[in-house]
Amino acid sequence: MDKFVIKGGTPLKGEVTISGAKNAAVAIMPAVILSDGPCILENLPDISDVHTVKRILAEMGAVVKNIDKNTVEIDPRPVDTDIVPCELGRKMRGSYYFIGALLGRYKRAVCPLPGGCDFGVRPIDQHLKGFEALGCECMVKEEGMIEVSADELVGDNVYMDLVTVGATINTMLAAVKAKGLTVIENAAREPHIVDLANFLNTMGADIRGAGTDVIKIRGVEHLKGCTYSIIPDQIEAGTYMVAAAASGGDVLIKNVIPKHLESISAKLEEMGVIIEEFDDAVRVVRNRPVKRCSVKTLPHPGFPTDMQPQITVLLSIGKGTSIVNESVWDNRFQYVDELVRMGAKIRVNGRIAVIEGVDYLTGASVRSTDLRAGAAMVIAGIIAKGTTYVEDIKYIQRGYEDIVEKLQALGADIRLSSTPD
Ligand code: EPU
Repeated sequence: MDKFVIKGGTPLKGEVTISGAKNAAVAIMPAVILSDGPCILENLPDISDVHTVKRILAEMGAVVKNIDKNTVEIDPRPVDTDIVPCELGRKMRGSYYFIGALLGRYKRAVCPLPGGCDFGVRPIDQHLKGFEALGCECMVKEEGMIEVSADELVGDNVYMDLVTVGATINTMLAAVKAKGLTVIENAAREPHIVDLANFLNTMGADIRGAGTDVIKIRGVEHLKGCTYSIIPDQIEAGTYMVAAAASGGDVLIKNVIPKHLESISAKLEEMGVIIEEFDDAVRVVRNRPVKRCSVKTLPHPGFPTDMQPQITVLLSIGKGTSIVNESVWDNRFQYVDELVRMGAKIRVNGRIAVIEGVDYLTGASVRSTDLRAGAAMVIAGIIAKGTTYVEDIKYIQRGYEDIVEKLQALGADIRLSSTPD
């Protein structure tokens, strides 16, 4: 069983370069299916979720050519099916973006119901609401497959009952070649939604308002191939910011968009961490004790839920009592038991965690309960006294390119161990 072995106690120092955004990549890659010609995608993160999307595209007939580790050329012209391969599709939640993209191309899509990290119930009712507004019928078929189809896709107004990244993206994908105007109200505003809109517009789409809560999409008949560079990963950057702060380090985090990091920077500053912003980098320094803080996760531009486990680790060594309120997912504190085994004092009641800061954490064997929780365990290992073994690292490899190498370059004593248990 692969695991990370971390000897804690070294403050992180130096520079780290952030990779492309996972959640932009997993939306943009399926969108290539809408194009009439090949697309070159640059700054793609080299992570297992991206490998899975490449394999899905290849299995559907696309020609997927790796130009280098972070650049791929995808020719969608040979795709000859509207069915997403079941086993691969189930591996990751983002595979449902193939529904929107295939609808745009074939007016029909068959896709496995989504898998991915487990934070409790993860409904897709708002995705279906978007598709239905455009004239689709949605049917759950045998073996957990869903079929969505329409005789014709026609634009309409869609009001999302809650702010959802996935349903906003899927509705955009389905609307981009629909007839007429689609207006998504109460749309999500995450940076990867803007990135997807920019990519589609580069291909010839007519999308306005991405990044606000009203997105207007006027359907076009054709989209052409293009070359596009994915934005840097907000959450990978935030994870290194918190790791730097938690370890009492001094790290320059390069290839970031500081604007995307504002909510994270603001909370770190409240905790007494020094943040220096440059055009495309941030420097994070902590040379004082961590102050207590209250954090509530919210859709963008609020504090991201995907940073909640990492910030909880930092607060676990803060002075005083902190509160973390998870308002996006209903079951995202599963990792807390692991942190408690490292000496953290945290009580969870529903969506609220109450954290009594302790002087230090102690190394232990801990599991990654999901991607971001796994990253949080790595940070906990870096600051703990003694040795931490982080298991189930397959979750972490879904979203963090070269995490071991990047942390080693910052001075962390971390290695991958592949010895059988
Ligand atoms: N929701 C519904 N109905 C829907 C869709 C969502 O009720 O039809 C609810 C969800 O249950 C949740 C809330 O709306 O309570 C927000 O869900 P959202 O749709 O925004 O999440 P998602 O699209 O499934 C993406 C990211 C997640 C990230 C969330 C929130 C991808 C592939 N995943 O998920 O990222 O936590 O947005 O920002 O983009 C991660 O990267 O570790 C990760 C889990």
